[in-house]
Amino acid sequence: MNVMSDTFKAVLLEQDENDEVSASITDVASDALPEGEVTVAVEYSTVNFKDGLVINGNVGRLVREFPHVPGIDFAGTVEASDNSMFVPGDKVVLTGWRVGEIYWGGLSQKVRVKGDWLVALPDALNTRQAMAVGTAGFTSMLCVDALEAHGLAPENGEVLVTGGAGGVGSVAIAILAKRGYTVAASSGRRELTDYLMELGAAEVLDRAGLSGIESRPLE
Ligand SMILES: NC(=O)c1ccc[n+]([C@@H]2O[C@H](COP(=O)([O-])OP(=O)(O)OC[C@H]3O[C@@H](n4cnc5c(N)ncnc54)[C@H](OP(=O)(O)O)[C@@H]3O)[C@@H](O)[C@H]2O)c1
Repeated sequence: MNVMSDTFKAVLLEQDENDEVSASITDVASDALPEGEVTVAVEYSTVNFKDGLVINGNVGRLVREFPHVPGIDFAGTVEASDNSMFVPGDKVVLTGWRVGEIYWGGLSQKVRVKGDWLVALPDALNTRQAMAVGTAGFTSMLCVDALEAHGLAPENGEVLVTGGAGGVGSVAIAILAKRGYTVAASSGRRELTDYLMELGAAEVLDRAGLSGIESRPLE
């Protein structure tokens, strides 16, 4: 994709006089990019839980200023840099820092962000693979790391993954199974039982049979 032109394509959210938020794929002028140190030509992003909230009418009011470009993560190639850590051509990845919420995000051909928010892409991953993992998959790995730091181990018994068919839960099932855990997954979608078993679940429980999990944050 050519991102050197005066415009680039992005998912743009706009709010009308009735506070209704709508999203469209729009040509955005390059000089409308926000201030920042590093301009990145985006190759891949993901559609995360938060992006779903924001694009579907800004549920939860995560976005306060419009126009806005959503997308909480991206991987791409540095196009221009005022930060000594990055030079044009570097492959980079970003997740977090409230990009896509209070800063313009990755559902765009071009982004401009602070250099501190970027991570050099590891040699073992290309940009597509990095975003196939995405923020949800990265979150799953952080959860597994944290649980293991608190003593979780395969020999201590089964692990239950709730929200098993969701973005975080599905990757958690795959990571845990790969690491030798016996995984029980709970899901409200019985029709996805085969999928959850393919990911590595040894058992799938009906969400309705579990108590105390009734609300979803941010809604
Ligand atoms: N995505 C991220 O990067 C990220 C980062 C940090 C924290 N989180 C948090 O992690 C959680 C999961 O996020 P996600 O991105 O995986 O969201 P998601 O893809 O929407 O998955 C959430 C899953 O929760 C289950 N669920 C839905 N309604 C439920 C209810 N009433 N009671 C119990 N379970 C219900 C559903 O799974 P089943 O249909 O299989 O039951 C759904 O797929 C959220 O609380 C989110 O805020 C996410």
